[in-house]
This record gives sequence, structure tokens and C-alpha cells, in this order.
Amino acid sequence: MKKKEHSFSFAEYDSIDDLSTEDADLLLQARQISSSAYAPYSQFMVGAAALLENGETVKGTNQENASYPVGICAERTLLAAAGTIFPGMPIEAMAISYSNKSNSGDYPILPCGMCRQALMEFEDRTQKPVRLILGGHTGHIFIINRASDLLPLAFTGKELK
Ligand code: THU
Repeated sequence: MKKKEHSFSFAEYDSIDDLSTEDADLLLQARQISSSAYAPYSQFMVGAAALLENGETVKGTNQENASYPVGICAERTLLAAAGTIFPGMPIEAMAISYSNKSNSGDYPILPCGMCRQALMEFEDRTQKPVRLILGGHTGHIFIINRASDLLPLAFTGKELK
């Protein structure tokens, strides 16, 4: 028997003022676009903004549905848009922000499991890590160097062959 371990590290910043101008700008765009979310059922409004390798910015918000499982998260809305408008174009960084019923979000949210799977395949497809910039409208910010760090021992397409 071999004991195996997995670990990763990420950065935590006290405030948006400590980020580079480029990262701060992307987080501001994610905060702004969160107000366009269609989330009448949860009132949890999520916004994502990504900077692509070609310099373009693509955004996404969560889109809910009366048939709840039909809803889609902001991250996957963004990935679908990026993959459609700029097929194969790598994402340099994606910022994710939100507000909820009671406040404008003062702690980072992390992508759900389904989005982690989608992000991992996007990295694989474009051969480039997606840096995540995670923060509410105030408070601490997490920066994770590659989205796939959030999905260790993942299922990948390799096993399908
Ligand atoms: N949601 C996202 O859009 N991204 C996340 O990272 C977490 C959750 C959405 C899904 C649903 O519309 C609402 O937030 C509540 O779960």
C-alpha cells in the first residue's frame, strides 16, 4: 500500500486594493455583471468575467429556470459563450463575484462541482490554466492559479478512450 497525498496552495488578499490593476478590473467587471443575473428563485446573483488570451473579455451570469435543474451557473454560461464566440481561445483569468438576498457578498464563493469539471476540461482543451479571482463585493479575495487545482483526481476524457 502506498499512501498518496494531494495539496495545493492559493493566495488570499485582504482587499481589491492589493490586486494588480488587471485583476482588480476583472473582479470589478464580475461584480458589475452579477446584477444582470437571472436568479428569481435563489436571488443569488453570480457574475463571472474572463480575460481571454486575445485580449477580449467575456462575461456570464447564472440563468435560472422554474424547473430548477435547468438553471446554469455563471461560470458555465461564460465558458459556453467563450467557446462559441472564440473557439479554442485560452482564458487567462476568470473573476467570479456575487450578491445574495441579504448582502452584496463579503466572502469569496468557489465554483460548484459541475463548474469545476467544466473548467478543468476547458483548461485541457485550450492547454492553458485558468486563473481564478474570487471575491464578493467587499472583503477578502482568493486567487487560485489553475481552476483544476479545485478538482483533484478528476475524471477526464482519457478514460473514455
Ligand atoms: N451559482 C453560480 O452561478 N455559480 C456558483 O459558483 C455557485 C452557484 C448559481 C446557481 C444558482 O442559480 C444559484 O447560484 C444558487 O445556487
